[in-house]
Amino acid sequence: MKGHSMKSIIPAAGLGTRFLPATKCSPKELLPVLDKPVIQYVVEEALEPEGVDEVVIINSHEKPQIEAYFSEDLDFENMLRERGKSELADAVHEAGALPVSFAYQDEALGLGHAVYCAKDEMDGDPFFVLLGDYFVPDRQMCVNMQKVSQEHGGASVIAVAPVPADQVNRYGIIAGECVGSLDGAEVADEEEGTVWKVTGMVEKPAPEEAPSHLFIVGRYLLSPRIMDLLATQGTGAGGEIQLTDAMVRLLDEENMYALVVDPDQGCDTGTPAAWAATNARMALRNPAQRAAFIEALGKEVKLG
Ligand code: UTP
Repeated sequence: MKGHSMKSIIPAAGLGTRFLPATKCSPKELLPVLDKPVIQYVVEEALEPEGVDEVVIINSHEKPQIEAYFSEDLDFENMLRERGKSELADAVHEAGALPVSFAYQDEALGLGHAVYCAKDEMDGDPFFVLLGDYFVPDRQMCVNMQKVSQEHGGASVIAVAPVPADQVNRYGIIAGECVGSLDGAEVADEEEGTVWKVTGMVEKPAPEEAPSHLFIVGRYLLSPRIMDLLATQGTGAGGEIQLTDAMVRLLDEENMYALVVDPDQGCDTGTPAAWAATNARMALRNPAQRAAFIEALGKEVKLG
């Protein structure tokens, strides 16, 4: 893939029901993590792998605020500059200058359907898919997935992470075998950095039926063939058109690999508790915010 231009897809057209009533009028993907909306972290992460020069956001017509956020607003910028707030004007400019385009999903029919809505924007190259409510602050997950793909002839690669046995029924779980590790590092099976050859995938299995303890995290590097399969993909779990079901069909035709990642490498924002925890983690990591954050928490919350 070296030297080629690639695109990343960010599905952001879901209903955000786990975050109602906040998401009645504000898209979940625009909720702030410190001073930036979640989806801006995802866009910045999506541009990090080599060759990625454009991000296609799958949006809903009910969420025009997302497109507004990524549009240039020179009047607003100039007003800020006139008031001497040039740093803030630069921050506003940066959001409007990111290489983002939009495709629309008319109805939230599932993740597989959302990805398929970008088919006209794709040029037959492999592409990344990054869920719009989860981000990786160090931006290295997709970069590492790209390395694994390059080591395996450009095959599809997904990120997976260990999950406790009693929680496998909440996630998509892979079947497969460990075939090596990222950069040849020595690590035990199911540990961060191992690479698996995927032989199957099951959505939300019962614990006794789970083929492994590795769940699909929400970062995918996919062969363009997946678009042809999505075109004919019927509904699956929850009555939704599932990306996982189309990936199971892709396995009949092509190799697929999984990179085991540390679940703490990423930040979830899909529920109020996960979003609040993500803000806390990001504030504690940020030298400019840390002290003010701890002070603002007051005496009620003790941080070790
Ligand atoms: P989620 O399942 O976490 O988002 O999908 P959701 O459906 O909006 O949330 P809940 O479960 O109702 O609370 C992960 C990502 O995929 C997008 C969502 O916007 C989110 O960023 N998505 C999901 C779509 O774009 N279209 C869909 O049909 C479903």
